Amino acid sequence: MRKDGERETRNEKRDDSYSSFLVLLPSLSSTQAFAQRIAPHLRQGDVVALQGDLGTGKTAFARALLYALGVTDDVPSPTFTLLQSYDVNGVLISHFDLYRLKSPDELDELGWEDALADGIALVEWPERAVGRLPTDSLVLRFALDEKGERSCVVEAQGKWQEIMHIGCSQE
Ligand SMILES: Nc1ncnc2c1ncn2[C@@H]1O[C@H](COP(=O)(O)OP(=O)(O)OP(=O)(O)O)[C@@H](O)[C@H]1O
Ligand SMILES: [Mg+2]
Repeated sequence: MRKDGERETRNEKRDDSYSSFLVLLPSLSSTQAFAQRIAPHLRQGDVVALQGDLGTGKTAFARALLYALGVTDDVPSPTFTLLQSYDVNGVLISHFDLYRLKSPDELDELGWEDALADGIALVEWPERAVGRLPTDSLVLRFALDEKGERSCVVEAQGKWQEIMHIGCSQE
């Protein structure tokens, strides 16, 4: 049985250091199930880059991931604050939305370096932080097509190869 109507297709680029797979996200429950499968792999120092146009489901995924990581507070979108921080058992989890970032220098005022070094960072609109994102970030590319179908491409490079198995169908 597939979970929550979620269908997945493996679509690998044949390179040992880089793989990708597509996850279809037809419902919020499928987004939640996807986040629950990513969460156990996150460690302090990890960065998850949430790419995708407006309204493609980045915040919905981030919220589900934060809950899966143990956040119990409300999770507002950091649309205007640019950053919402959470403490889960002493681990700092930072949820950035950089859409309104005026310049990469503003990242320093937000405590960007410490957030990335010590904690787990989830970053919406990571393109705004060009040159400031670690090259080993886990990249998730959300999309909403003209038929209203939602999906996410997982770009698993380096150590993120270990999550490739979550892209396998669960029959
Ligand atoms: N998998 C899904 N199935 C159905 N609806 C979804 C799904 N993911 C997100 N949504 C809905 O789509 C809308 C936009 O989602 P969300 O706010 O997460 O987008 P976003 O990518 O963060 O947008 P922005 O770029 O403005 O921050 C919300 O109403 C959300 O509930
Ligand atoms: Mg958002």
